[in-house]
Amino acid sequence: MTRGTIPDPDDGLRSAPEGRGAGAEVESRSPGLTEVLDLVRRARRFDSSGYCLSVLACRVDDRIAAAGAGGYGDYLNLLESSPREVDALVEALTIKVSSFFRDPLVFEFLGEVVLPSLLVERPEAADSGLRIWSAGCCNGEEPYSVAILLRDLARRVREPVDARIFATDVDENALARGREALYSRESLANVRLGLLESSFAPEGELYRVIPEIAGTVRFSLHDLAGPGTAAPSESVFGSFDLVLCRNVLIYFEAELQQRVFERLCWSLAPGGFLLLGPAERLSGPWAGRLRPVDGCVGLYRKPARNGRSFEGSPP
Ligand SMILES: C[S@@+](CC[C@H](N)C(=O)[O-])C[C@H]1O[C@@H](n2cnc3c(N)ncnc32)[C@H](O)[C@@H]1O
Repeated sequence: MTRGTIPDPDDGLRSAPEGRGAGAEVESRSPGLTEVLDLVRRARRFDSSGYCLSVLACRVDDRIAAAGAGGYGDYLNLLESSPREVDALVEALTIKVSSFFRDPLVFEFLGEVVLPSLLVERPEAADSGLRIWSAGCCNGEEPYSVAILLRDLARRVREPVDARIFATDVDENALARGREALYSRESLANVRLGLLESSFAPEGELYRVIPEIAGTVRFSLHDLAGPGTAAPSESVFGSFDLVLCRNVLIYFEAELQQRVFERLCWSLAPGGFLLLGPAERLSGPWAGRLRPVDGCVGLYRKPARNGRSFEGSPP
């Protein structure tokens, strides 16, 4: 990987072994990099320990170049005096790349196979609602894509489909953009015309998710790597029918990936699905706990059991 060019997973990290990024390339932190990351932790409570070091280093180098700073010392001075630059750095470190129906075939599989099968297998969902979690939801593109699919499914089966979609991210600014639900044309490039017209209202050059869809998504702050609860506290008890955690774990080192896998697996209801990104694979002890689903890369299912109780105690 060349300095200053961190590929998005869609652009070629597919060959990364077991969803691991290139963290091993940078073996130790320079003192300047450590100081920058410490400052971000203090200023924004964003703790990057466990993230791939090479990715962090490239992202900081990119910001140093973009800000015209002469090196880490210069850049630290800038960060101390400019909250806006701290925001820009958090944005860069957390990799804000997303779009509606990112990986269209995967979302097609969700809409045609996964969500209908959950409805058939969980008829009680008509009363209690499907429980869905988008972990690392960025600006809301992913959870709203699922909400659009559910509304379309309800139209096709001619019955209401009740669902609660919890959308969480470590970055408050991204959550604020998600709540605003206003998007550029580029982020909607994969939305089919019929769904575009029925799910968005144009506002000048931008498009707003219609209130009926936006109202089904609940945004909240949740750090997948943090010391808090395994599932977002707003969800009260996890037990999700579908968890999407896509293009997040690829930026974590193997040990942190395992910790997050444990949380994600625990948060699934029996029979629930876990959807990872195209370059991410369940690995280590967690690989045996869920079964890969044929026909969709990165999709796993927790074995079904009678009832919806947890397996074990929360991590
Ligand atoms: C590359 S985007 C992926 C967005 C979306 N899941 C997708 O596939 O289009 C990664 C997202 O993960 C979030 N993220 C990074 N570290 C996180 C953490 N520890 N807990 C929760 N979200 C995190 C980032 O803020 C960013 O919004």
